[in-house]
Amino acid sequence: MATWTTLSLQDSSSPMMEQLIFFHDHTLLILTTIVSLVSYLMGSLFFNTNINRNLLESQTIEMIWTITPAIILFFIAVPSLRLLYLMDEINNPAITLKTVGHQWYWSYEYSDFSNIEFDAYMIPLNEMEGSSFRLLDVDNRITLPMNTHIRMIVTAADVLHSWTIPSIGVKVDATPGRLNQMGMLINRPGVFYGQCSEICGANHSFMPIVMESVKTNTFISWISQLSEA
Ligand code: CUA
Repeated sequence: MATWTTLSLQDSSSPMMEQLIFFHDHTLLILTTIVSLVSYLMGSLFFNTNINRNLLESQTIEMIWTITPAIILFFIAVPSLRLLYLMDEINNPAITLKTVGHQWYWSYEYSDFSNIEFDAYMIPLNEMEGSSFRLLDVDNRITLPMNTHIRMIVTAADVLHSWTIPSIGVKVDATPGRLNQMGMLINRPGVFYGQCSEICGANHSFMPIVMESVKTNTFISWISQLSEA
């Protein structure tokens, strides 16, 4: 979960997010190198009085500073596209979870298990207990098994929403009239928090997502308890 001093990315909880962090660091390294080099060159350009009256054009330097950025961009574009297509891949999922965005709450459907469905509303400030997080906890958490390929399908009932959990590296637009899907694999147990990230109206900030990642056995007993109820 992000706290006040979390200025960087959260620790990853899925192989996909791990790769996204690697890509972020890779790109930031290239960016830092370019910014340092350009700042140094501009600095030295402003603070010297060298004049070469014979220098009117130079095909060579023009070639160098056109082709070099193109090569650098190539080294960013290739891993970026690799991740883009990897995120789109669904690896024979074991279970499917459907979520529908509403103004302003999420509803969930475990359609593999006799159509279990429930809504998840944010716990308002005046009903918060000591252990709950402000603006981030919900009344009904979703539970999912870890180390399992999960298919997340996302849609909306009224306006655009976006189902987002940063540490899993999942962010899917919830669009009315459209069913989006995304593969998900959580590689550790824990409670993961997310928020809607599509400006969807007055209470956009108040439709958080809470997911419990548990062992398969725990998940089975949780879902069978729900089925009996
Ligand atoms: Cu739903 Cu913003």
